[in-house]
Amino acid sequence: MILDKIEQLLAEVQNLSAQNAEEIEALRLKYLSKKGEITALMADFRNVPAEQKKEVGMKINELKQTATDRINALKEQFETADTECDGIDLTRTPYPVNLGSRHPLTIVKNEIIDIFSRMGFILADGPEVEDDWHVFSSLNFAADHPARDMQDTFFIMRDPADVLLRTHTSSVQTRVMEKAQPPIRIICPGRVYRNEAISARAHCFFHQVEGLYIDKNVSFADLKQALLYFARQMFGPETKIRLRPSYFPFTEPSAEMDISCGLCGGKGCGFCKNTGWVEILGCGMVDPNVLEACGIDSKEYTGYAFGMGVERITNLKYSVKDLRMFSENDVRFLHLFDAAH
Ligand code: PHE
Repeated sequence: MILDKIEQLLAEVQNLSAQNAEEIEALRLKYLSKKGEITALMADFRNVPAEQKKEVGMKINELKQTATDRINALKEQFETADTECDGIDLTRTPYPVNLGSRHPLTIVKNEIIDIFSRMGFILADGPEVEDDWHVFSSLNFAADHPARDMQDTFFIMRDPADVLLRTHTSSVQTRVMEKAQPPIRIICPGRVYRNEAISARAHCFFHQVEGLYIDKNVSFADLKQALLYFARQMFGPETKIRLRPSYFPFTEPSAEMDISCGLCGGKGCGFCKNTGWVEILGCGMVDPNVLEACGIDSKEYTGYAFGMGVERITNLKYSVKDLRMFSENDVRFLHLFDAAH
């Protein structure tokens, strides 16, 4: 009777034991391989009368499961036993685990994003390999405008169209404005590239965070208020800001923003070259030409934009004197920021 055979095998497999890997494998072959006893039972299943099929089927499944579980348990026992030599568990994670730390630029970038997201700005992203339109033309740089020289560009291809590494994150403004209608309130962090000789004060790539807000009745006063809030959150509640007139092709009017020197509190020191102020970002009201180039009605909408260097802000917060430290991956430098996030 097939049921008796199943019961007998079940009793057998429940008590299987083995001394080593070979014995376990032998058990597996005996019961579970293609030529194994349980597999043979399954072949016999064909001959079981229809009214018994349900009961026998369930029993066979139980047997197969029990055998598989038992053999796996033996394997596990054997494997654990093998790695436990003299009470030392070689599978254990070695302690102390040396965790990495966040890069200082990431810490500061995240802080900038946090501050602006509290004001309702949402993240936007764009490619680093860009075309002339998004980096220059849409942003009101005339084809022969000398302002293009302000940012030494790495060109990837000049013909038939210019393909280049973006020199600023303002290109993301264009990408968003092309697709969306106001209200637009975005913050765009990213890496940018300029053809500069690498030194303590300049690098051929660095990081910016760009902000853009377009809606009805957005004014310069709104810009100033948002930037004041940012400066105080970032550098402390005593921080003062100062806006100096400046020039960017894509904003009019344009300004550069200084904050009161955190080192001397505004009295004047070597760091702020005795002025009491340090520059941190560029900003202005979006030029109507830029809005129109991106399909936004400049009679109905106004907006402001600003852009800042993450390295610059990090230098101010953590007094990093040499820009090259940021890209050298020296763990002694990186571990200085373990506690900062
Ligand atoms: N894109 C400018 C730069 O790279 C910064 C900026 C952004 C200025 C937005 C004004 C408005 O220097």
